[in-house]
Amino acid sequence: MKFFIDSADIEKISALNEIGLVDGVTTNPSIIAKSGLDFKNVIREICELVEGPVSAEVVATDAEQMIIEGRELRKIADNVCVKLPLTMDGLKACNQFSKEGIPTNVTLCFSPNQALLAAKVGATYISPFIGRLDDITLDGMDLISDIRMIYDNYGFETEILAASIRNVNHVKQCALAGADVMTAPPDVVEKLSTHPLTDKGLSAFLKDWKKTGQTIL
Ligand code: E4P
Repeated sequence: MKFFIDSADIEKISALNEIGLVDGVTTNPSIIAKSGLDFKNVIREICELVEGPVSAEVVATDAEQMIIEGRELRKIADNVCVKLPLTMDGLKACNQFSKEGIPTNVTLCFSPNQALLAAKVGATYISPFIGRLDDITLDGMDLISDIRMIYDNYGFETEILAASIRNVNHVKQCALAGADVMTAPPDVVEKLSTHPLTDKGLSAFLKDWKKTGQTIL
């Protein structure tokens, strides 16, 4: 499963990238607003930092303007992936980009049928939002499993990019359900490495090693 970082925080993306845990980055207009940074500048900076796709979202609501905005975003860097909302206009724009070989991430997916439409118009990624379904007491993970089955039934190549991930359990469940990619905030990725028994075990090993009086170097 590929790891994308759902953030515009350059320092945090950079730190995880150095560890080798960044296969791509996703942003959305809310993340950009929260960062307080200039949209195109921060996308450019992230694109220079990471080799993988960097999702930058259009804000137009009609297909023609989405296409114009998407082309503008693609001028920033070759690894910009145009993020489009799952509306009929977004699907139309996706279809056009797909014909041109421009990578797309169709976002705000909340149903298997929406994911089916995105695959039919050649989306590179579909972003089902797990956390936001959980928020309204539905099971977001069922959506990932349903889309996996539908895509496998027909051999669709659109990659399932599990989004709106809020905790480490979501990550495990996505991996079990066969999501191709998951995108999570940096703190969720950091938490994946932690386990109290790892800390306890390491502390005991180091204590015992000290007793030997030896050094490795
Ligand atoms: C993904 O592309 C979205 O930017 C993101 O995962 C949304 O997450 P949220 O529901 O926590 O805002």
